[in-house]
Amino acid sequence: MIGLTDIQIEDDFYDSLITSIGKETGINFGMYRKAFIEKRIRARMLHVNCDSYNSYYTYLLAHLDHEGEKFKDQFNINYSYFFRNKEVFKKFEDLFVECLDCKSKIIENEIEDALIDPLKNKEILNDKLILRKFTNLLIKNHEEATLFLKSILATKNFLNAFSIIQSSLYYKIRSSKKPIYIWSCPCASGEEPYSIAMILDDLRNQFIKFPNYKIIASDIDFNALQKAKKGIYANSMENIPQLYKVKYITKQKEASSYKYILNEKIKEQIEFICEDVTRGHKYSLKYDIIFCRYLLIYFNRENRRIFLKIIEDHLEEGGLLFLGKTETLFQSNSNLKLIDPKNHIYMKINATKN
Ligand SMILES: C[S@@+](CC[C@H](N)C(=O)[O-])C[C@H]1O[C@@H](n2cnc3c(N)ncnc32)[C@H](O)[C@@H]1O
Repeated sequence: MIGLTDIQIEDDFYDSLITSIGKETGINFGMYRKAFIEKRIRARMLHVNCDSYNSYYTYLLAHLDHEGEKFKDQFNINYSYFFRNKEVFKKFEDLFVECLDCKSKIIENEIEDALIDPLKNKEILNDKLILRKFTNLLIKNHEEATLFLKSILATKNFLNAFSIIQSSLYYKIRSSKKPIYIWSCPCASGEEPYSIAMILDDLRNQFIKFPNYKIIASDIDFNALQKAKKGIYANSMENIPQLYKVKYITKQKEASSYKYILNEKIKEQIEFICEDVTRGHKYSLKYDIIFCRYLLIYFNRENRRIFLKIIEDHLEEGGLLFLGKTETLFQSNSNLKLIDPKNHIYMKINATKN
């Protein structure tokens, strides 16, 4: 029996192997952490009964077609479930509710009053700081954000500040004039974007004025996306609130189990895309909210940087990035600022902008 961790994989060998599998499968395995890939190589070695790295490489070249596919299948960690870390989805829901509830009408009135009466302004505030502080407060405490907004309206520079706040996510949701763009990347077999769609569809029925929204979901794994598009699941329903189950899911008896079918109304709210995100994204648009959970952990340092740059470029100023609960950003020069450490939510605040 091979001890999984006993086998040392030399760099040259490792590179040749991932290049061969990469050519066969079209996946650039070089972007992932070596330890992550090595674990999968060792698992395949055990499976095909190869007791040395050399013999696995020989086996791989002789069965490249079949083994390449098998390697790819077990490499893709499609593990996902509906409302994964449900407190994060609650936070997402709260953001919309707080922006849309009646208190916001008061804020709007105050902004309008202040626009009519610029004499109310007293001191000049830096736009960047205003946006940062306002949006930070908003995500934590709506009341405090309201008070802060009131104080901004009493400044000399309020017209400028107002335009920044208007372009922030808060204002976009509240004004409902422009669509909110949401990207679930990676989406695996669809549980994450469907959770988002259920929340938004339910909210849309509760508010007279609700913004249009578009949900894009992407993943590198074609098979996972096929499952996502079908919207039929055998399990992973536990976390779904009962209300949503009744509204959006049909339970159907199979021979000895059940299958759960998502309603067309929810399915049609999502556009699924098959793509390797490190090579870029199909759309050039900027998103207001990006869910990027449980992918970062697999990338090596260099690709983490490339990947984060792509994500950051696709995020609107003032937009939110949701990471997985085990994921954190370390780089200090990024424009992605941690605003909710408990739920690993970041906001794009352009530090270089005047
Ligand atoms: C653990 S799942 C995360 C799914 C979901 N975000 C969640 O939190 O439940 C990781 C997914 O990353 C996908 N993936 C891996 N490398 C990728 C890449 N370069 N581009 C896009 N998706 C990738 C895998 O196919 C897999 O479905």
